Amino acid sequence: MTTPTLLGISGSLRAGSVNTLLVKEAARLFEPAAFTLADLNLPLYDGDLEDAEGIPAIAQILRDQISQADAVVISTPEYNSNLSGVLKNALDWSSRGGPSPFRGKPVAILSAADGRTGGARAQFSLRHCMTPFQPQILQGPEVQIAAASTAFDNNGQLVAERDLKTLGILMRKLKALIQE
Ligand SMILES: Cc1cc2nc3c(=O)[nH]c(=O)nc-3n(C[C@H](O)[C@H](O)[C@H](O)COP(=O)(O)O)c2cc1C
Repeated sequence: MTTPTLLGISGSLRAGSVNTLLVKEAARLFEPAAFTLADLNLPLYDGDLEDAEGIPAIAQILRDQISQADAVVISTPEYNSNLSGVLKNALDWSSRGGPSPFRGKPVAILSAADGRTGGARAQFSLRHCMTPFQPQILQGPEVQIAAASTAFDNNGQLVAERDLKTLGILMRKLKALIQE
């Protein structure tokens, strides 16, 4: 098999985001792959903007990246018990301008949050939000990094062996979906 293309999507724009760290950890454990981190700095979805100007270039780039990826890994923060608005906005833009590029796509979902549940509620909501796109979402093992501000070392790597092991299993399962 040729080197697979992996797209990472972090639901946080913050430079120090633990979700971006987690997506990068997932990519490290997935290796070898051609990895790209998506830019979710999109305008807020606005039907008037779409009518006047069409799909913004940055949203089209995201759609193309999803289409061209062999697999996608998404990590969501938990904001007030739900997924981030940044991520939901990006998913909404991705659904415009033609059939969803997520259709049939192998997808792994992750979450990292400061709370004790590691973003479990956000992750549940994200799975629900993805339903209309009909991707192939792995159901487990669930990767939910709790107390995430202390879960990574100075190199951005997960500290807990258990988290590394679970994420590694999920990435192997993601690879296997591509090969099917
Ligand atoms: C508006 C807001 C709401 C939050 N709500 C939750 C929450 O419901 N559960 C939780 O575990 N953490 C919550 N947090 C803390 C986040 O888990 C923490 O800021 C985390 O680092 C965000 O992810 P990021 O580092 O990828 O940006 C909240 C943070 C913000 C800014």
